[in-house]
Amino acid sequence: MTRTLISGGLVVTAAEELEAEVLVEDGRVAALALRGSEPARTWADSGAETIDATGHYVIPGGVDGHTHMEMPFGGTYSADTFETGTRAAAWGGTTTIVDFAIQRPGESVRSGVDAWMAKADGNCAIDYAFHAILSDVNESSLKEMDVLVDEGITSFKLFMAYPGVFYSDDGQILRAMQRGAANGALTMMHAENGIAIDVLVEQALAEGRTDPRYHGEVRKALLESEATHRAIQLARVAGAPLYVVHVSATEAVEELARARDKGLNVFGETCPQYLFLSTDNLAEPDFEGAKYVCSTPLRPKEHQAHLWKALRTNDLSVVSTDHCPFCFVGQKDMGAGDFSKIPNGMPGVENRMDLLHQAVVEGHISRRRWIELACATPARMFGMYPKKGTVAPGADADLVIYDPNAEQTISADTHHMNVDYSAYEGKRVTGRARTVLSRGRVIVDRGSYLGSAGDGRYVPRSTCQYLV
Ligand code: URP
Ligand code: ZN
Ligand code: ZN
Ligand code: ZN
Repeated sequence: MTRTLISGGLVVTAAEELEAEVLVEDGRVAALALRGSEPARTWADSGAETIDATGHYVIPGGVDGHTHMEMPFGGTYSADTFETGTRAAAWGGTTTIVDFAIQRPGESVRSGVDAWMAKADGNCAIDYAFHAILSDVNESSLKEMDVLVDEGITSFKLFMAYPGVFYSDDGQILRAMQRGAANGALTMMHAENGIAIDVLVEQALAEGRTDPRYHGEVRKALLESEATHRAIQLARVAGAPLYVVHVSATEAVEELARARDKGLNVFGETCPQYLFLSTDNLAEPDFEGAKYVCSTPLRPKEHQAHLWKALRTNDLSVVSTDHCPFCFVGQKDMGAGDFSKIPNGMPGVENRMDLLHQAVVEGHISRRRWIELACATPARMFGMYPKKGTVAPGADADLVIYDPNAEQTISADTHHMNVDYSAYEGKRVTGRARTVLSRGRVIVDRGSYLGSAGDGRYVPRSTCQYLV
């Protein structure tokens, strides 16, 4: 049996803050004991290997419920492999990701899942799970959903955007939702009216509006809120739960808030880029705006305060990254002279925990809410709690010894993501993961990476744990 004692820290979970010692046995949290209590004194004398967490937080490892490693998009692939992307996640204090296995039109959902399993197998630094993207909703893919739910792939992303690529029409969406209502699957929605957006793209390009900032102008907030509204109504008709991904517009948040006030099983996610960046970045000169092209797009700064408020009131309940990096040189520049050819997506899997801690420092959210948004809720939403997302007896010992006073400047020169720029270049933040444990093994410690590719295990999931 391996035994480790994490001593001297402030344990922070979504539920509480405790001056407590954490005993880890065989990769799991065995017990917590308040500092100075009888069991804590016994453990201290037991000769167990001890990690000193004095002056630090002991938090659950981050759960990033939305990443895209090696994702095919617009004729290229996102630049992080499962190996580089999960290692970068570990550096940033994230110990579980849920990536997306893509069904290609004309192919089975299973073939997508098999392909993504093969990409991840033996390469991951941290534990991983999959959602499936449905790009071809038909009788046989609906049947496949039932089997996949039983096997632990319990959430399915549909796209109201990207006609001709990932797009599903309202009838396909309704059918998939009806199936989800029956088999327990959670429908995840990319809510943008892609048909209308494509008209505006065509018009913009015809008028010579080709710079990255027009990506933000054609993908209008109203077309996000319209799609969000439609997705909610379709989910109501189907009697199905709905999780709207990468919400960026105030108007879309209002749709979610209305649905939630009715007591519907409707949930929303946002991402750090929408909280910290804006259309000002998309408008950066010399094509630099391409670094910030993602969908939904960055919005004018005024939206940020609404997103923060929604994160406090739980109208938005998860912050994930939508990590989908493309290099500025050689990938983003595929769209020089035509913003519609810029591969969509931004890096961030390494930065999420720190950016959200910075939000604690700045007073946007509380310390426990930080853990709730970044660890506990995504673990519950996607059926992995309490194995993941908390510090409690029986949980996997995915733990971060977090230094709340460490000062750092985010930069591509020092990050570990396989991408040639940082979306947060030069941003100063307070807080950093000092030591990261994955199932009880130290994989990052004081600036050294001690893990290896293949440490991470696949996590089959139960269904969403919020449904009544
Ligand atoms: O721009 C983005 N978000 N790229 C990744 C694919 C998606 O829609 O999530
Ligand atoms: Zn999307
Ligand atoms: Zn409300
Ligand atoms: Zn995404």
